Amino acid sequence: MTDEEMSGDLLGAIKPSTLPLHMDIDLSSKCNLRCSFCHLSYFNVPNSSQISFEYFMEKIDPILKQLKSVTLFSKYEPLTCRDFVKIFNRISEYGIETYFSTNAILFTEESIEAIVGRLRWLTVSVTGFNREDYARHMGADRLDKVVANLRAINELKRKRGVHYPMLRISTVGMLDTLEDLPRAVDFAKEHQAEEGVQVTALIAYGEEMVERMPLKDRERFVRLTQEALRYAREQGVRMALQSGGMEENQAATRELGHRPCFLPWRRLSVQPDGAVYPCPVSYKPVGNLAESSLEEIWNGSALEAFRAGVNDPARMNPECRGCTHCRHKSIIREDANDYSKADVFFAGMVRKN
Ligand SMILES: C[S@@+](CC[C@H](N)C(=O)[O-])C[C@H]1O[C@@H](n2cnc3c(N)ncnc32)[C@H](O)[C@@H]1O
Ligand code: SF4
Ligand code: SF4
Repeated sequence: MTDEEMSGDLLGAIKPSTLPLHMDIDLSSKCNLRCSFCHLSYFNVPNSSQISFEYFMEKIDPILKQLKSVTLFSKYEPLTCRDFVKIFNRISEYGIETYFSTNAILFTEESIEAIVGRLRWLTVSVTGFNREDYARHMGADRLDKVVANLRAINELKRKRGVHYPMLRISTVGMLDTLEDLPRAVDFAKEHQAEEGVQVTALIAYGEEMVERMPLKDRERFVRLTQEALRYAREQGVRMALQSGGMEENQAATRELGHRPCFLPWRRLSVQPDGAVYPCPVSYKPVGNLAESSLEEIWNGSALEAFRAGVNDPARMNPECRGCTHCRHKSIIREDANDYSKADVFFAGMVRKN
């Protein structure tokens, strides 16, 4: 369902008994990396946890057959979940669409065997397209491992004669990495990423990142992204600026402060400690699986109140006003991109001392 279809009367027509079409599940609240730009380098996670297969079967499996799709990450690294393969195999039995984003370092023969032919979309996050740049941005000298795993995935796709997972390369767009975008295009082409390159605009979590945000030099951002988009077209590689280009973003976010968003009408976001959020970047849970079922939370008053504050400027939720979601945030508003002074962040994260 498109955003246009969701707008207007359709929103009012959603019945309380409707279940989400989609779920975002963080399988673990850990990561094997500490990328220089990531919230995990600046904020502590309240409690380090992961979803076990048994917990998954008890709390989440009962709702699976109602869903159209599942995303197996939002803020952390899904491959750090010990039961990743068992959980993924179970979800695959339902034939629903699956997707996750990963740094791709922790893939094993077993997890590659599990996903090839069954996972629909796979995003691999790479910022820095040579050994030195990758190590500087991602905090570890592991580009060779990422390349080896991408080759292993493509090799098995060929061997099995399957199209899935469709690959995409995601890279963080900061003023000092925009010149690397053509390298991202080359990398996507080399690794047969038919979904191409996606660029997420940098959110600054530390003071030293503020000057690197795209909005600090709009002319440079527009010029270099236009050049990269042209190069991508020439190379036959798809490329998308996740939050839109400057002009388009300005038009879409001028009145509302963020791009129109319908996530909480379609999906729910579950954390490994059982907390349920209305979207992957909201701060306040609308329930916990320890106390209520997903269906109760979906139809509960807390989520209903949150929905009312998503696209209405008069009563907007604070997290929607400064939305950091890669697709919905405004890239032109300072307060939606500069979190360098924030003491708390999503899912109960607290700034490191
Ligand atoms: C937080 S990661 C979680 C999933 C997985 N660990 C990964 O890296 O793909 C999700 C995405 O957020 C991007 N990201 C991380 N920090 C960012 C920031 N400060 N600004 C914009 N995008 C960022 C990453 O590059 C990655 O593509
Ligand atoms: S791999 Fe993903 S979750 Fe881990 S530090 Fe990097 S961006 Fe953050
Ligand atoms: S915080 Fe952003 S993604 Fe979440 S509901 Fe609000 S506008 Fe949508």
